[in-house]
Amino acid sequence: MRKQIAAANWKMNLTASQAETLATALATGVTHLQAGQQVILGVPFPYLILVQNKIAGNQNLFLSAQNCADKLNGAYTGETSVEMLQSISIPFVIIGHSERREYYHETHSQLATKVDLALAHNIQPIFCCGEPLHIRETNTQNEFVEKQLKESLFHLSNAQMKNFIIAYEPIWAIGTGKTASSGQAQEMHAHIRQVLASQYGIETADTVSILYGGSVKAANASEIFSKPDVDGGLVGGASLVASEFISIIESLKPGA
Ligand code: 13P
Repeated sequence: MRKQIAAANWKMNLTASQAETLATALATGVTHLQAGQQVILGVPFPYLILVQNKIAGNQNLFLSAQNCADKLNGAYTGETSVEMLQSISIPFVIIGHSERREYYHETHSQLATKVDLALAHNIQPIFCCGEPLHIRETNTQNEFVEKQLKESLFHLSNAQMKNFIIAYEPIWAIGTGKTASSGQAQEMHAHIRQVLASQYGIETADTVSILYGGSVKAANASEIFSKPDVDGGLVGGASLVASEFISIIESLKPGA
């Protein structure tokens, strides 16, 4: 029905030699995935080709960029286009991470443009959503996340939404050591799937992989991934340690 995915987000961490060491450990350590499982590494731009070379022999590992420009090309100093990513065969890109929304003021409409540009270049977005603490405290997280999805994704066609990847990352759980309970994760993931179903129909909604992110580690991954609407995780800190991330991968359910 849908893929179960362990995605790493290395964020702005590691030197080149550390990235090389981690990629080598994953290339040799990530073997024997079960059916329908996938592992994606969200690597800083300067290391994409380096890591690509290191993981070349491992069919289980795929690369993702952590961001892309909302412009196709031209005079945008410091930006990286989807055209560039496509030209070096990067199949995934993280779009709308809360850190980019918060620190770089990315808007719903910019994210919609990035999603369109990525899809037009055969790059699958990993679209992030999730509420800050004050929204959770007023119990309006469902409406908040629904708006994020509607504003940046609901212009997509049914065909584009099939097999899409969404990551639900409550901001209060990112890098804080404070994980959402598996019940809270399931509740929001089920809500996201229901919102998708109301727009695209249940058949399409059932093909979308919804990943949980926020302090996922080896010790809590199995419990979180065991929930029916949690299709894996987007992992920050714990993905920087090969043994931790491999254990998280081993906690995935079989996919389809
Ligand atoms: P942590 O796993 O470090 O909490 O980060 C989660 C995240 O933001 C992944 O994109």
